[in-house]
Amino acid sequence: MIIKNIVTWLAISLTLTLSFHSYGQDIAKGARYYKENCAICHGQDALGIERKLTPRLAGQKGYYLLDQLNRFKSGKRPAVEMKATYDAMNKQEMKDVAAFLEKMP
Ligand code: HEC
Repeated sequence: MIIKNIVTWLAISLTLTLSFHSYGQDIAKGARYYKENCAICHGQDALGIERKLTPRLAGQKGYYLLDQLNRFKSGKRPAVEMKATYDAMNKQEMKDVAAFLEKMP
């Protein structure tokens, strides 16, 4: 019984860990993409800029950031300020940026 529980727990943990981190992101590319396309509004350090009313992104969970970017792109979450930005992003760039931001302090 205990062994069965441990095996189940391990299987669940592994699935949760893999769900975002198995996408095959490139953090270096994400860093470059962020500096060129997002830093102007969210700040070089990704801590948000009060004057622009932008949220902090540094240290946020990658799966959450990716989900929000998908929502912006599909129109489920409207965000007019960023339209030009997410219209231009492809899936890989979204994953790379999300992975980079999650690693930021
Ligand atoms: C022109 C300014 C601008 C640019 C450029 C911009 N953003 Fe934003 N971003 C905003 C604003 C304003 C909000 C808050 C909008 C809202 O919630 O309606 C926001 C919100 C977000 C959110 C939601 C955060 C949360 O906590 O839910 C994410 C994720 C995000 N931006 C990622 C990015 C990424 C990645 C880039 C670059 C590829 C980027 N943004 C470029 C202005 C910008």
